Amino acid sequence: MNTPTAPVTPRKVTKAIIPAAGLGTRFLPATKAMPKEMLTVVNKPIIQYALEEAYEAGIREFIIITGRGKAAMENHFDYPYELADTLQKKGKLAELELVTNVVPKDARIYYTRQGEPLGLGHAVWCGHTITGDDPFAVLLPDDILCRNNGNDLKRMIDLYETTGQSVVLAEEVPAERTSNYGICDPAGPVAGGAMPIKGFVEKPKPEEAPSRCAIVGRYVLSPRHMALLANGKPGKGGEIQLTDAMELVAKDEGFQAHLLQNPRFDCGDKVGFQMANLYFAMNDPYIAPRLQPFLQQTAAKYERRQAPREA
Ligand code: G1P
Repeated sequence: MNTPTAPVTPRKVTKAIIPAAGLGTRFLPATKAMPKEMLTVVNKPIIQYALEEAYEAGIREFIIITGRGKAAMENHFDYPYELADTLQKKGKLAELELVTNVVPKDARIYYTRQGEPLGLGHAVWCGHTITGDDPFAVLLPDDILCRNNGNDLKRMIDLYETTGQSVVLAEEVPAERTSNYGICDPAGPVAGGAMPIKGFVEKPKPEEAPSRCAIVGRYVLSPRHMALLANGKPGKGGEIQLTDAMELVAKDEGFQAHLLQNPRFDCGDKVGFQMANLYFAMNDPYIAPRLQPFLQQTAAKYERRQAPREA
């Protein structure tokens, strides 16, 4: 058996790929003419949450993988001259701040198109000319991660920079949900919030899953992934799978799973999206006191509707 050998001095992780070429079919008709990444959670588009989280974790170069019909994302991250000028003249300085500070001054965003929907592995590979020989993070923007209990991506980057091993974010899921996720094959017990991983299986049936430890929305990957993805072959579902490259890296370099320490909302799903809106609204000092009575009344009405009628 090969002993995993990670790079001796891992480089700092300052680049991130954000795959955002998906069609958003679960939100039609809203996503007919608007990218799903631009749906708003309270007052910010979903993709802005990913950018803020990654910036806080030390990422300074962002590679957004786009597709047809996604121009609104580029406009959102652009400097809005006309709007800024109008707000300035009207003295609306708080609003001016909101639209001009969307991208921090020392961050840089690159856009590249994924011409064909060949899978997540291919989408990530589309960023290879910008990542070069550097390690990189991947953020699937559908997943919004809270940061009340620290920044999980930052912890993953720290783990990569100290061990030189790639890291996935993982969360335990019920057995019946393993077929929705890439599943980790653990190589040892959890220590310090992370565990060593010897392989991955993409979307296994419960009886074939090596664990219930699912990959969720964040990765910190060694540069070797790009070389493997360049020769990526269609895997599960006929798509070039990121987990297939990770499986090979796990055998060669070793791999870690960092266990999620915060609430996560899957905004690729209508229920998760509504929950995210309610969660962030209830943390907003203007909205929360106004929304709370409405939520209570609505929940009470729902409970009355659900209650069994007396005979
Ligand atoms: C992708 C990955 C899967 C991972 C999931 C997390 O699947 O292929 O391994 O667990 O993202 O959201 P998708 O959700 O794109 O089908």
